[in-house]
Amino acid sequence: MNKADPIVLITGANKGIGFEIAQQLAAKGLIVLVGARSRQAGEKAVADLAGDSLDVRHVQIDLNDEQSIAEAAKFIEAEFGRLDILINNAGITDPDDGPPANVSIQAVRRIFETNLFGTLVVTQAMLPLLRKSDRPQIINQSSGLGSIQLNKDPDWEFAPFKLFGYCASKAALNMMTVQLASTLAEENIVVNSIDPGFTATDLNNHRGRQSIPEGAAAAISQALNIKGSGNGEFFSATESLPW
Ligand SMILES: NC(=O)c1ccc[n+]([C@@H]2O[C@H](COP(=O)([O-])OP(=O)(O)OC[C@H]3O[C@@H](n4cnc5c(N)ncnc54)[C@H](OP(=O)(O)O)[C@@H]3O)[C@@H](O)[C@H]2O)c1
Repeated sequence: MNKADPIVLITGANKGIGFEIAQQLAAKGLIVLVGARSRQAGEKAVADLAGDSLDVRHVQIDLNDEQSIAEAAKFIEAEFGRLDILINNAGITDPDDGPPANVSIQAVRRIFETNLFGTLVVTQAMLPLLRKSDRPQIINQSSGLGSIQLNKDPDWEFAPFKLFGYCASKAALNMMTVQLASTLAEENIVVNSIDPGFTATDLNNHRGRQSIPEGAAAAISQALNIKGSGNGEFFSATESLPW
């Protein structure tokens, strides 16, 4: 490990888009902390990546368990003393999600518990470590489904996806991005939302139209500042998105 190498924590990195982001960033020389709620799944992911001689460590972190989040922050503090990039990638859908007129309230609560509240707890816990970085960045894995403007357009290709819990949780995450970016700007902490695009993963029973590497492209681009990232913005891999 070179002390100057950027240190990135990716939540939900044991599979799907998060795992791909971990692999690509580690291949670029970043020190990657592979967040996973299951110790077994996290260690397997790290073993798979370490086989390619990448600098990766598992960090047990469950967005629904504040104790695990606090312990993850303590571990990173003790091992590295700082965090350069936080990628809030972990997220869920719910089989009982649906249109707001009749969706299960319990399903909406479950989704918010992970996608918004858990992500906020992780972010607050990691902020002291990000403040010790000279290039701190928070990347929130949102979704085009969280765009209120796109949801208003009846001709939008994803307009039929009336998954109120999921869409509202990502719209709320976008609000977190905008307000955090504004309040942390003086400390030079860059905060953006990204949309990976409709990607074939377990989250949508592999109905997504993009490959997982395509789904990771927006996060990679932001993390490596390929496009000279903005602050308080919403990006896909190729363009700016409307809130
Ligand atoms: N796939 C798409 O089309 C798409 C589109 C737009 C946005 N996104 C967003 O992209 C992100 C990654 O999704 P994906 O498609 O890669 O899905 P995925 O393959 O289902 O991966 C989701 C990851 O999040 C983890 N996770 C879920 N709940 C967690 C919790 N309470 N604590 C810690 N980790 C938790 C999962 O861990 P376990 O393995 O333990 O369940 C898994 O590692 C999500 O935020 C999703 O909303 C995806």
